[in-house]
Amino acid sequence: MYTITLLPGDGIGPEVVAEAVKVLISVSNRFGVKFTMNEHLIGGAAYDATGHPLPQETKDACLQCDAVLLGAVGGPKWDNLPVELRPERGALLPLRKLLEVYANLRPAVVFKALTAASTLKPEVVSGLDVMVVRELTGGLYFGDKKREEIPGGYRVVETLVYTTEEIERVSRRAFELARQRSKKLTSVDKANVLESSRLWREVVTSLAAEYPDVELSHMLVDNCAMQLVRNPLQFDVLLTENLFGDILSDQAAQLTGSIGMLPSASLGGGVGLYEPSHGSAPDIAGQGKANPIATIMSVAMMLRYTFGLAEAAVAVEAAVVRALEEGYRTPDIMEEGKKLLSTREMGDIIVRYTENH
Ligand code: IPM
Ligand code: MG
Repeated sequence: MYTITLLPGDGIGPEVVAEAVKVLISVSNRFGVKFTMNEHLIGGAAYDATGHPLPQETKDACLQCDAVLLGAVGGPKWDNLPVELRPERGALLPLRKLLEVYANLRPAVVFKALTAASTLKPEVVSGLDVMVVRELTGGLYFGDKKREEIPGGYRVVETLVYTTEEIERVSRRAFELARQRSKKLTSVDKANVLESSRLWREVVTSLAAEYPDVELSHMLVDNCAMQLVRNPLQFDVLLTENLFGDILSDQAAQLTGSIGMLPSASLGGGVGLYEPSHGSAPDIAGQGKANPIATIMSVAMMLRYTFGLAEAAVAVEAAVVRALEEGYRTPDIMEEGKKLLSTREMGDIIVRYTENH
């Protein structure tokens, strides 16, 4: 039996998490595994109910379960709160830190049925399957910040901290993933300017000897941004620090046509954190327009990485592919001649295909 903490959060979060829960239940039916799920508050929803975006009760639930499934947090309603109470800085980042999930895996896969949904030419993106490994608990996101008044305005300081150990542990994950995939790892940095990047490159290079079967290369982040739109098929696993990874993973996501398709897994501590790569999309919240596939694919990652249920993960992924191949679409990936579905209808189809393969 596995315990899963559900954190639906804000905006479209509750809608997409509801569909992912249905898929978990269908996995349970088909494979005979038992999941205990309990729901807790996070983000703006938690702030409205309790006065804090990450209540103690939610933290306890996250530390005591096997895996966390998060929808999304944030929205215009909470944008003007003091920064430590805003859903992003007050809930999401502290949760990542609390769970010590230092390795964020963001796969960007172009499904055959959706090749035309990309804004890039089909021959550039066809068959794309990239895994971005983003360091998630260090760097500029977590360093000391300071703002002071000076004549004529302000002076701000942001600190970028990395230790050898922090770089090493996330790099090992990336080497190991590369080993299970096509054995190509590209480490992305800005070693021509930043001291943190110079250390990053040294540490990654020193690990390469332990993974002689993995072909390691280094690329500067500006070049990588360019190469991702010029020739993304050259990449397999991309490894990078927190802020570069934030930016490059959105870019990689868009190569696939819609960020509504992209799952993520954050690993490292004892409890895995799974969430779609997209945000809370307040503009379409509550309208049944959200694409639940990113969250459902996050469940597939949970089955694979936390529960070791590879067969169940494959079943969910296959159900998603089948739904797409049969022409089912949510608005974000709609094309002429396809069948437009609501969030719930898309969930229903994927549930059906997960149970009846
Ligand atoms: C992400 C998001 C977050 C980040 C925001 C919401 C704080 O953009 O998960 O990529 O920057 O990490
Ligand atoms: Mg981001």
